[in-house]
Amino acid sequence: MSGADVSRETGKSVIGVRRLKEAMPRPLKTRLFTVANQKGGVGKTTSAVNIAAALAMGGLKVLVIDLDPQGNACTALGIDRDGEGMYEVFVDDHPLASIIQKVAGFPHLECAPANQELAGAEISMVNMVARESILKLALQDYLRTREEEGNRLDYIIIDCPPSLGLLTINALTAADEVLVPIQCEYYSLEGISLLVSTLSKIQRALNSAVHISTILLTMFDSRTRLANDVANDVRAHFPKELIDIPIPRAVRISEAPSFRQTVMTYDASSPGAIAYMQVAREIALRGAGPREDGSTQSNPESGAITA
Ligand SMILES: Nc1ncnc2c1ncn2[C@@H]1O[C@H](COP(=O)(O)OP(=O)(O)OP(=O)(O)O)[C@@H](O)[C@H]1O
Ligand SMILES: [Mg+2]
Repeated sequence: MSGADVSRETGKSVIGVRRLKEAMPRPLKTRLFTVANQKGGVGKTTSAVNIAAALAMGGLKVLVIDLDPQGNACTALGIDRDGEGMYEVFVDDHPLASIIQKVAGFPHLECAPANQELAGAEISMVNMVARESILKLALQDYLRTREEEGNRLDYIIIDCPPSLGLLTINALTAADEVLVPIQCEYYSLEGISLLVSTLSKIQRALNSAVHISTILLTMFDSRTRLANDVANDVRAHFPKELIDIPIPRAVRISEAPSFRQTVMTYDASSPGAIAYMQVAREIALRGAGPREDGSTQSNPESGAITA
């Protein structure tokens, strides 16, 4: 990563370290992740926003969809929640394009906000036709329009509330991949089995493509025996899915949202930011389209941010 720098294209100075020297590879098609775990406080939102920010810093085009009425992803991205948001997409059939906001300080990072009204959306949706597929259809329209404009998104990351209600079911119906953050505590794996059984119902009825592709260990404290035991269990059960770069428990990560920032901008050289950057790069490498010579694609665009 570079610090204060000068963009070659514009000659303007680049703020902070929101730019990577080595861009991340683009996927062949838009990758759609749902970050889910019905257990509360395991690091879903923190992982969603920081991985999204890191991918954007790697030059990729990223959209975060905040599906949690708590709106924590919006807070971390400095996004206004007072206007229209996901409530209108679910209940009033508004197009996603009409509610998406740009995240300040990033060239290619956008957010679909969870506005205050979203808390009432599940009740309003109960009698709707195809209520599990509303997000999927809205995303299909949005992605088609962006493709037609030659402005394809690389990643969509959906942050879910800590429940397996209709909002999370919409996210799982829309997504191909599920990213599960696991906090290394007692009962961590028991929580996953409930998610796995919900997923298999969704696979049968609504979306055969969706699967757990990525597992991340969060708030990891390598000094405790319990954390290491749980990590070993996860490694044994999910050897392919686990990204074996644990996110450390780190004060800077928990401080960042109170400054309406991700840790990637709040303190990019802190251990937590470095871990999320490595995780994002690993995700991008796993999803990179092959080139003709068999190596992975490189992305010519950098995530330079100009003042
Ligand atoms: N690696 C970390 N180090 C220190 N604190 C962390 C770390 N990751 C997350 N936290 C803190 O732990 C709390 C829970 O994290 P987060 O909000 O990301 O979890 P969540 O799964 O989205 O919660 P919810 O289920 O309520 O949506 C937050 O206060 C967050 O700042
Ligand atoms: Mg959350």
